[in-house]
Amino acid sequence: MNRPLLQVALDHLDTPGALESARLLGPEVDVLEVGTLLCYAEGVRAVQAVRACWPDHILLADLKAADAGGVAAELVYSAGATWMTVICSAPVPTMEAALKVARTYGADRDVQVELYGDWTFDHAQQWLDIGLTQAVYHRGRDAQAAGKGWDEADLQKINRLVEMGLVVSVTGGLTPQDLSQFRGIPVKAFIAGRSLYGAKDPVAAAQEFSREIRAGWGA
Ligand code: 5RP
Repeated sequence: MNRPLLQVALDHLDTPGALESARLLGPEVDVLEVGTLLCYAEGVRAVQAVRACWPDHILLADLKAADAGGVAAELVYSAGATWMTVICSAPVPTMEAALKVARTYGADRDVQVELYGDWTFDHAQQWLDIGLTQAVYHRGRDAQAAGKGWDEADLQKINRLVEMGLVVSVTGGLTPQDLSQFRGIPVKAFIAGRSLYGAKDPVAAAQEFSREIRAGWGA
């Protein structure tokens, strides 16, 4: 089982703040994410700015695109993104259009489906049928604030998605202490935002995540 990647979600509301967090955390993480909130606040220019400082990292633009997949994809891949997200409720043609553009930028470019709210395993099969291979299993920020924890039902759904052939990342208010619950699952990446960039010592927080990943999945 591969060691899961560590991904920081830069959910800042301004590019300078995101770049400062990336300066601290870039050396500690495998994937830099221009978070949805930063995309709202600063748009594709934030993707360009992070890419200019970090030419070699996997760079995710967390658009959670719902429509105009091809246009959205063109915007972020031309700005240097490696991956982008579409929302699970997007129509399949939107996902297909985004994936088609991704492939024109290189075989390493990819589209991830963000799982929120209502989706089914039949939908997941449709995503696989059009060539999508990555999903992000998400505990939403608002669901967390309303008291939603990680539970057995989450683990069962993640396992079923993996059995179907999807490569699954996990996110949503994660702390290093949460990671041991996912042991035994071949998670692609653990994605953390506030508990990394919002930590008193972001570097130490990232190193704690990495220690938990190594403890659970090996070096
Ligand atoms: C919110 C997101 C966040 O980027 C993701 O949940 C990680 O952030 P945090 O660890 O702060 O919850 O996609 O929609």
